[in-house]
Amino acid sequence: MRIDIISVLPELMVSPFQTSILKRAVEKGLVEVNFHQLRDWSIGKHKQIDDEPYGGGAGMVMMVEPLDKCISELKSARNYDEIIYLTPDGKTLNQKTANTLSIQENLLFICGHYKGIDQRVRDLHVTLEISIGDFVLTGGELAACVLADSIIRLLPGVLNDEQSALTDSFQDDLLSPPIFTRPKIYKNLEVPEILLSGDTAKIEDWKYEEALRITEERRPDLLGN
Ligand code: ADE
Repeated sequence: MRIDIISVLPELMVSPFQTSILKRAVEKGLVEVNFHQLRDWSIGKHKQIDDEPYGGGAGMVMMVEPLDKCISELKSARNYDEIIYLTPDGKTLNQKTANTLSIQENLLFICGHYKGIDQRVRDLHVTLEISIGDFVLTGGELAACVLADSIIRLLPGVLNDEQSALTDSFQDDLLSPPIFTRPKIYKNLEVPEILLSGDTAKIEDWKYEEALRITEERRPDLLGN
């Protein structure tokens, strides 16, 4: 998979891809992440990339021309399966979207700043708009890292068996059951007896029941009816 990311602050996104599991995924060649500094496509002698909004209002708007030029140049080199704009008014990211995106070849992320990007960039190029939650960040960069992480960890070969994505919360619309490791007793708190029993069928039943209980308690919306 290849992920291209357009941003005015690519330095904000360097360390996530140079650390731990994402770093290994990059080193193994399972994903290639390329940053594109939007200022390289700025216009005029003032190297402008943003301007005041038509119709007034607070904040600046990222201009259509630098973004259009940057995106068009990237598009001329390859076909993107999705061109994704990270924005609080996009569709809220969930596991299903991460799963769907993880089987694509080429993704392009656009990180907004200030009040956002000129609507015409969205009309011309964007195929998917994603929010990582109902809150507003200072820019799309951290959201792009969150989205990339949720996708990359699903690529075959990125996680080893112990880290398997198949048992994650949300993978089957259930939250995870409680988990424990040694010691058996800590400050009078005991590990549930069943987990020490060695009876794998009973343990699986217990995990499922606990997952159901926790999901009912915290996220009944996931269970539908
Ligand atoms: N940019 C600013 N806030 C965001 C959010 N919640 N999700 C995605 N991109 C954003």
